Amino acid sequence: MTKYKYIEVTPIATAIGAEISGVDISMDIPEPVISEIRQALLEYLVIFFRDQDLSDPERHRSFSKRFGHLFVHPNFNMGQKDPEMVFIIRKPGDTAIVGETWHADTTMMKAPPMAAILYALEAPGCGGDTLFANQYLAYESLSEGMKKMLNGLKAVHNDSKVAGPKVGFNSKRSTIVREDDAWQLTENAHPVVRTHPETKRKGLFINSTYVQHLEGMTVEESEPILTYLYEHATRPEFSCRFRWRSGSVAFWDNRCVQHLAINDVQNSVRRMQRTQLVGDLVQ
Ligand code: SIN
Repeated sequence: MTKYKYIEVTPIATAIGAEISGVDISMDIPEPVISEIRQALLEYLVIFFRDQDLSDPERHRSFSKRFGHLFVHPNFNMGQKDPEMVFIIRKPGDTAIVGETWHADTTMMKAPPMAAILYALEAPGCGGDTLFANQYLAYESLSEGMKKMLNGLKAVHNDSKVAGPKVGFNSKRSTIVREDDAWQLTENAHPVVRTHPETKRKGLFINSTYVQHLEGMTVEESEPILTYLYEHATRPEFSCRFRWRSGSVAFWDNRCVQHLAINDVQNSVRRMQRTQLVGDLVQ
């Protein structure tokens, strides 16, 4: 376990997740502190901050840019002024929300984002928590036989379940995604087991939101293997649950984490602001 000099790090579960305190991330933070935050992200996979003020998108952007280049999400880019800021809004009456099935973000891209930084502008009194699951543990706890079979396999990821004219989300939720006729599918194949470019640890890299089938196999042939892996990868003992308050931040490593937003808010508003960071080719 790393000894931190500038920040306090308090794990919130055994498998994944730590709360960071002793730092105001809306300020211009010195490099040694940024380096510790990055180390905590690599060690705990998702880190949380409380009572922050990133309500000015410029502050959110500045903090994010200390860790990489800002990613523009193709399905939320509708020509707005700040295409790299995604506002994830849930209002009373919405029946669907963004991210309500387990996923890593935007994995249909050739180089999926390395991380996301999500800020709660307005959190409900209760409900609307987010779950996170450790994909290193998911891989490491498989049998040697299963590991052997999966190493070398690729999965085909695309965004057909989350955007495009057929998904029909815009009539059910306040966060609008591209559903126009000019939208085009993005599809790429990635290794089922990826090696994290910084920690060099192996983790599972499949998720039911984006993966369609295993490369070289039909949907039907892939299904039993994928169904087993989706369930295994999101077991409670690999996970943590984060309860939001207004001003909270979650910063997750998208290369080794799956997450899910719980769709249990009834009459409250939940307003979130998100950036993502450009990632590498999956290897
Ligand atoms: C997401 O999938 O990025 C949204 C997570 C959330 O709103 O809790």
